[in-house]
Amino acid sequence: MRIGVAKEIKSQEYRVALTPAGARELVQRGHEVRVEAGAGAGSAFTDDAYERAGAAIGSVDDVWGRSDLLLKVKEPIASEYRRLREGLALFTYLHIAADEPLTRALLDSGITAIAYETVETDRGALPLLAPMSEIAGRLAPQAGADHLEKPKGGRGILLGGVAGVAPARVLVIGGGMVGYNAAVIALGMGAQVTILERSVDRMRHLEEILSGRVSLLMSSTLQIEESLKDADLVIGAVLIPGALAPKLITREMLGTMKEGSVLVDVAIDQGGCAETSRPTTHDEPVYTVDGVIHYCVANMPGAVPITATRALTNVTLPYVEELADHGVLRAIQLDPELASGVNVFAGHVTYEAVAEAHGLDYTPLDDALAAGVI
Ligand SMILES: NC(=O)c1ccc[n+]([C@@H]2O[C@H](COP(=O)([O-])OP(=O)(O)OC[C@H]3O[C@@H](n4cnc5c(N)ncnc54)[C@H](O)[C@@H]3O)[C@@H](O)[C@H]2O)c1
Repeated sequence: MRIGVAKEIKSQEYRVALTPAGARELVQRGHEVRVEAGAGAGSAFTDDAYERAGAAIGSVDDVWGRSDLLLKVKEPIASEYRRLREGLALFTYLHIAADEPLTRALLDSGITAIAYETVETDRGALPLLAPMSEIAGRLAPQAGADHLEKPKGGRGILLGGVAGVAPARVLVIGGGMVGYNAAVIALGMGAQVTILERSVDRMRHLEEILSGRVSLLMSSTLQIEESLKDADLVIGAVLIPGALAPKLITREMLGTMKEGSVLVDVAIDQGGCAETSRPTTHDEPVYTVDGVIHYCVANMPGAVPITATRALTNVTLPYVEELADHGVLRAIQLDPELASGVNVFAGHVTYEAVAEAHGLDYTPLDDALAAGVI
């Protein structure tokens, strides 16, 4: 198969969809890999490194125009819509339920669009989202610690304290992938950590894997009110699958928090878990409301592309290999996980939530395949 790797042109996006190591694996399996010139630069991979791995370096027109399967990290932006075409399969983060123009462009083009974020295992896990949650979780205490410093506008407290001086208190709301990873790093930095969770089973698991080093409390409005008063750093890490994040921290509650405390609302990509949260960027990551510094960067992993690229490609490569070895059509017929990633197929919306979001007709993938629409 002819596999293309496009350079990301979205502002502040430095990741790339395939590492030289991944290129080598695909070339070894007999596939042709073409990487757009400079695509790996933001993640510290030179064109040379790809060439040594057996890939060819090409122009943007080459990579989009001469591939059967195109690998990307982020969704195509408007200037790339004209490159979408029948006969091409695109494998990338898409998030099209929130992007009607792109949904229409994909439908009109006849392309097969497979979204990383909807690839789902039979146990309901989202394996291509998990590494980004791990990274965002691990970044959260680091970002929080930074903004707790006095010159940054924070309270001026050191997360780990020192001998004879109490450490900072970190409150993590939601003990899933983000919350667990945030807790691990906050503990490592020496903070006193509390996790609020809603699932008792998840709390039992956290108790076991964190060896009792954190306080685990049932999440409720009353408990959140109580815990916020004591916290120096609050990390918002809740998720209700398929829904906007619940607004667990009200404007009123902010008033009870310490002056100069920090809220890192990781759940901002689902709307955030505080009433006062709004998305920010790496250029201007924070703003202050009622004395509480809000850090609400919607693409936190973008700050660490060297780590994020490797973590992402570790999990995408097995699926890329399947798509390449079997051919796209056969691979999505064989693997239900890949099938769940198909959002658009030959002019049909094949992912129900996307169709619902835009009031479009939904065609189950099997029907679209059976109709022989390709
Ligand atoms: N900003 C970023 O760059 C970035 C990156 C990755 C993930 N995220 C977001 O972080 C959020 C968390 O992701 P995740 O992978 O950890 O999800 P997850 O499903 O692994 O964990 C979410 C946890 O929240 C818990 N929860 C739900 N409602 C709760 C409540 N009322 N109180 C306490 N806990 C509650 C759930 O029981 C679950 O354990 C998501 O919104 C995700 O999109 C953001």
